Amino acid sequence: MHLPKAELHLHIEGTLEPELAFALAARNGVDLPYADTEELRKAYLFEDLQTFLDLYYALMAVLRTEEDFAELADAYLARAATQGVRHAEIFFDPQAHTDRGVPIGTVIEGLGRALDRSEETHGISTQLIMCFLRDKSAESALETLEAAKPYVHRISAVGLDSAEVGHPPAKFREVYAAATALGLRKVAHAGEEGPPEYIREALDVLGVERIDHGLRCMEDPDLVDRLVSERIPLTLCPLSNVRLRAIDVLEQHPLRSMMDAGLLCTVNSDDPAYFGGYVGDTFHAVHEALGLDREQLRTLARNSFEAAFLDHDEERRAR
Ligand code: ADE
Ligand code: ZN
Repeated sequence: MHLPKAELHLHIEGTLEPELAFALAARNGVDLPYADTEELRKAYLFEDLQTFLDLYYALMAVLRTEEDFAELADAYLARAATQGVRHAEIFFDPQAHTDRGVPIGTVIEGLGRALDRSEETHGISTQLIMCFLRDKSAESALETLEAAKPYVHRISAVGLDSAEVGHPPAKFREVYAAATALGLRKVAHAGEEGPPEYIREALDVLGVERIDHGLRCMEDPDLVDRLVSERIPLTLCPLSNVRLRAIDVLEQHPLRSMMDAGLLCTVNSDDPAYFGGYVGDTFHAVHEALGLDREQLRTLARNSFEAAFLDHDEERRAR
């Protein structure tokens, strides 16, 4: 039995399972450089974030129509429901689609179609978080926010993802200020591969309310103190950290010490089609590898609702 939980760090494009990728490729006449799903799965051996991102972006070629995006999101929600997810705040990467000629409206309306029926069909409330690709320019992020304006009612927050090192949060000061002016909430990936300083910058320059990953905060005790005292949530993704080699094996993941330090930790799946498990599987894996007991797993589930962008009534209904 899976605990009721919220998922707060989930890239919808990272839920593209090989079977769906091949089905969409056939439907859209896209040639994939893999003979079958088995051969594709064999390519899921990553050295770091960049080697993963190369495949992640390449496979998105199969996503072309509103229906494709709707099917992708619906498949995720159906799976998430079986793993106890009651609320999901879902990232999407518009630039990865607009750069290959898919209009932003196709992406957002397609995802929106699945999200609109999610409470009824899957018992999961949803929000959308629009991420800027940090290895693209600040101008491109501003253009993306501008292009998203007709759909802003569908978006709760902005985020920052893709290749981290060399692309510090401060590069996106202006677009985060513009997003704030539109009433959007703010998160950012920081401290996944990048240094603790990027976590500080995300808080101080961008004004984010949650840190996605934040793993490397553990190198900076003053930063840990601050995250604890300000109760800044961290959306950790332990299976991702192993697959992208931020840590060697799950048994060495600092989740337990992070919880012991008083950090507001949540556990999430990041890109579950690529990293070997959805969020319920992740809870199970940290239970097995780190010996987290039932009470600690309950704390993680409770934290996920506290860290979610839900008001009190919504939170009560979701739990
Ligand atoms: N995009 C998808 N998954 C990501 C991750 N783990 N880090 C940064 N960008 C991503
Ligand atoms: Zn991520």
